[in-house]
Amino acid sequence: MTRVAVVTGGNKGIGFAIVKALCQKYDGNVYLTARDITRGLNAVSELEKQNLKPKFHQLDINDDESVIKLRDYLKNTYGGLDVLINNAAIAFKNDTEPFGFRAEETIRVNYFSLHRVCTALYPLLRPHARVVHVSSCLGRLCNITSDALKQKLSNPNLTEEELNNMMHEFVSAAKSNTHIQAGWPNSGYAASKIGVSALAGIHQSMFNKDSRKDIAVNSVHPGYVDTDMTSHRGTLTPDQGAIAPVYCALLPENTEIKGRYIWEDATLSDWK
Ligand SMILES: NC(=O)c1ccc[n+]([C@@H]2O[C@H](COP(=O)([O-])OP(=O)(O)OC[C@H]3O[C@@H](n4cnc5c(N)ncnc54)[C@H](OP(=O)(O)O)[C@@H]3O)[C@@H](O)[C@H]2O)c1
Repeated sequence: MTRVAVVTGGNKGIGFAIVKALCQKYDGNVYLTARDITRGLNAVSELEKQNLKPKFHQLDINDDESVIKLRDYLKNTYGGLDVLINNAAIAFKNDTEPFGFRAEETIRVNYFSLHRVCTALYPLLRPHARVVHVSSCLGRLCNITSDALKQKLSNPNLTEEELNNMMHEFVSAAKSNTHIQAGWPNSGYAASKIGVSALAGIHQSMFNKDSRKDIAVNSVHPGYVDTDMTSHRGTLTPDQGAIAPVYCALLPENTEIKGRYIWEDATLSDWK
């Protein structure tokens, strides 16, 4: 059986560096996925020049059809999936659009599209699979001012449906400019990443009850990285930003690191 790893948003930045590191370290096929085929294939060529052999599949995480095509391809070609790295995300760089619009769009992509990929691909995960949600240092509860929200988000019994509703509530509050009053951060990106960190815990609780043994879902803060997203102001290289995600992807069988939040240097941290 050939093992298989998938990285979303692999054509540049941290995702590209994750693909590169997995090509070097992972015993299986590594899929660089990208929403734009040309950008994706150019990235594959760049890695091939370094004697690495990533495979490619188109994936736009916002697009149901694209996600289902990847799911069917993986099912027919490999009969399963062993590593999923949810790296793709967006961040608005300026405030030319209204806050409510930016908040809605950011939650849509960073939270709900990540959720879409998980819903489609989780049935394929094999025992010992590793899932990584790339979050952020902004995806911690210290970025929320409301104790009630903090309590709800850190409740170990929080369900996926309740978390989805909370993300919708944030968007509504952002549109009516009441989000700060409600205790949310003044950033759609931070709210989306808080959702992503919380989702990892919920997914882990789900897999703890699954008949497929030893599936680990963790979220990571990759560090402040020199990529397009940070307008190249980050202090870490993309290869350094890949350290924590790759560490989580390669956790050994029967690891105890499950449902955790991992810091940029691959140490355990706490998002709560
Ligand atoms: N850089 C940092 O300092 C930092 C810090 C904390 C967390 N993070 C997180 O780390 C991850 C990677 O960030 P980065 O800095 O490498 O960002 P980046 O350079 O902007 O790269 C983002 C990647 O996501 C892809 N993407 C966006 N929307 C997509 C969609 N709908 N479907 C598929 N792919 C999509 C982009 O594809 P296109 O090229 O087609 O746009 C690109 O490949 C993100 O989750 C980010 O939030 C980054």
